[in-house]
Amino acid sequence: MAFPKAELHLHIEGTLEPELAFALAARNGVTLPYADTEALREAYRFDDLQSFLDLYYALMAVLRTADDFTELADAYLARAAAQGVRHAEIFFDPQAHTVRGVPIGTVVEGLGAALDRAEERYGISTRLIMCFLRDESAESALDTLRAAGPYLDRITGVGLDSAEVGHPPAKFREVYEEAARLGLRRVAHAGEEGPAEYIREALDVLGVERIDHGLRCVEDPELVERLARERVPLTLCPLSNVRLRTIDTLKDHPLREMLAAGLMATVNSDDPSYFGGYVGDNFDAVRDTLSLTPDQLRTLARNSFLASFLDDDEPRRER
Ligand code: ADE
Ligand code: ZN
Repeated sequence: MAFPKAELHLHIEGTLEPELAFALAARNGVTLPYADTEALREAYRFDDLQSFLDLYYALMAVLRTADDFTELADAYLARAAAQGVRHAEIFFDPQAHTVRGVPIGTVVEGLGAALDRAEERYGISTRLIMCFLRDESAESALDTLRAAGPYLDRITGVGLDSAEVGHPPAKFREVYEEAARLGLRRVAHAGEEGPAEYIREALDVLGVERIDHGLRCVEDPELVERLARERVPLTLCPLSNVRLRTIDTLKDHPLREMLAAGLMATVNSDDPSYFGGYVGDNFDAVRDTLSLTPDQLRTLARNSFLASFLDDDEPRRER
């Protein structure tokens, strides 16, 4: 569906399509362990979050220069525009690049070159959110935040992603405190594979303004009541949940119940190249499978703008 919407949960590295991966591999002299794009697509069968992350990080080997990141972001923006995206808040994983010897400046400047002309070329306003890898140490996250210092004029906020279970939000208390001091907005993945308690911790310890995924809040009625009362946005990613087997089938997605409970749900694509669809495809899938009404679809689209950081002044959530 191509009605206007904002996308708030999108990992730019997760938009790397097999065709671009092979083109960049050839350009950069990287050998991929797949015969062709078909064989690579065949590998997109995941048992859980970790099995996806293993491939996601491995394929990043093809991203080396600022131009590579510009091309990656341009390809996403063109696809997003075709599906009605008017505003995109884009995650990137600096540590996944610095560990390979690609400096954070190369990543930010490369992405920034595409984002700078996104309004004019695609009619999309953008924000950039740097994510810390939660399966790395808190010290590494703090080092990454310091390394981002010269580029903070291009970075709106910080997030937390990668393997969730065993890496609770509280591990990153200090780095989020520092991010807040620097005036950065704060979000975190929580309740994707991890328990509802991680959602509470992300709110109470990290002071986040949005929860990425938050799916498992439905296991905790008291938390659902709180999230609804405080209007905490949840950036849901339905096709991602099916592909990573967080739910068995899309029919099992609790989106209708979440809307009925007054949760501020939004629909997003997460890693669209890997999970079978961009954000419009996610909207189509939930509309068809969960029989959403036009009113519910309008609410989801409206929520996406309300939950965005378009108004950059002050955190809007009151607690
Ligand atoms: N990094 C990229 N996609 C992710 C997801 N769905 N969960 C956690 N980390 C991620
Ligand atoms: Zn994600």
